[in-house]
Amino acid sequence: MITANFKKLQFIVCGTDTDIGKTLISAFLVRGLNSFYWKPIQSGTENETDSEYVRRVSKVNNKQILKEAYIFSSPVSPHWAAEIDQKEVRKSALNLPKINQNLVVETAGGLMVPLTRDFLQIDQMKTWDLPVIIVCRSSLGTLNHTLLSIEALRKRKIKIMGLIVNGKKHLDNPKTLHNLSGLPIIAEFPWIEDFSIYKLDILWQELHMQETLNKIVNQ
Ligand SMILES: Nc1ncnc2c1ncn2[C@@H]1O[C@H](COP(=O)(O)OP(=O)(O)O)[C@@H](O)[C@H]1O
Ligand SMILES: [Mg+2]
Repeated sequence: MITANFKKLQFIVCGTDTDIGKTLISAFLVRGLNSFYWKPIQSGTENETDSEYVRRVSKVNNKQILKEAYIFSSPVSPHWAAEIDQKEVRKSALNLPKINQNLVVETAGGLMVPLTRDFLQIDQMKTWDLPVIIVCRSSLGTLNHTLLSIEALRKRKIKIMGLIVNGKKHLDNPKTLHNLSGLPIIAEFPWIEDFSIYKLDILWQELHMQETLNKIVNQ
């Protein structure tokens, strides 16, 4: 059971890799749920940050985009990005914001990414004690990456809400992931060529996101 304080929907969006679509899917979820968003560690400031992207795309109130705990200049793993900027990631700075609102927390990269030289992203997730949505790609390679990610989360008894399979529709991978993991496929999120906010709103309806999330939370 996913339980917790599920009068409000609070969860982590993690991915099987970097650049897998965590931020785009987070923006989609934040917009659809009128949620708060928190990206605790941002590595790389040359382009738009993840928080800026989610603010722009979700169009939620500015106050719903919570301030990052750390912003590092280099687009590399947080442990090294911190070192380059001569900063140190302290666990105490990564405590979950205490809000009684819908909240989407986006991780830095994949699960085993180090936040410090001896502390991994997945260890931090365990302390947050929120359920997780895994964003994975639809195409070749996803079975291995996704099943490994699920195994790592389960080994640490981190609750998984389900998978969002991102990208061009694949005829077999979602079914195989569901069969082998027993997890719900929350959505098969298509590759969008002509991105627009309007398109996200159509997808929210077409993918029955609200109903699916309600069902998972209430089961
Ligand atoms: N379904 C999709 N359709 C179109 N572009 C996508 C899709 N998923 C991801 N992208 C693009 O791929 C890039 C990486 O996605 P992003 O959400 O930033 O990944 P992550 O947060 O996992 O690093 C971005 O340019 C994003 O717009
Ligand atoms: Mg991101």
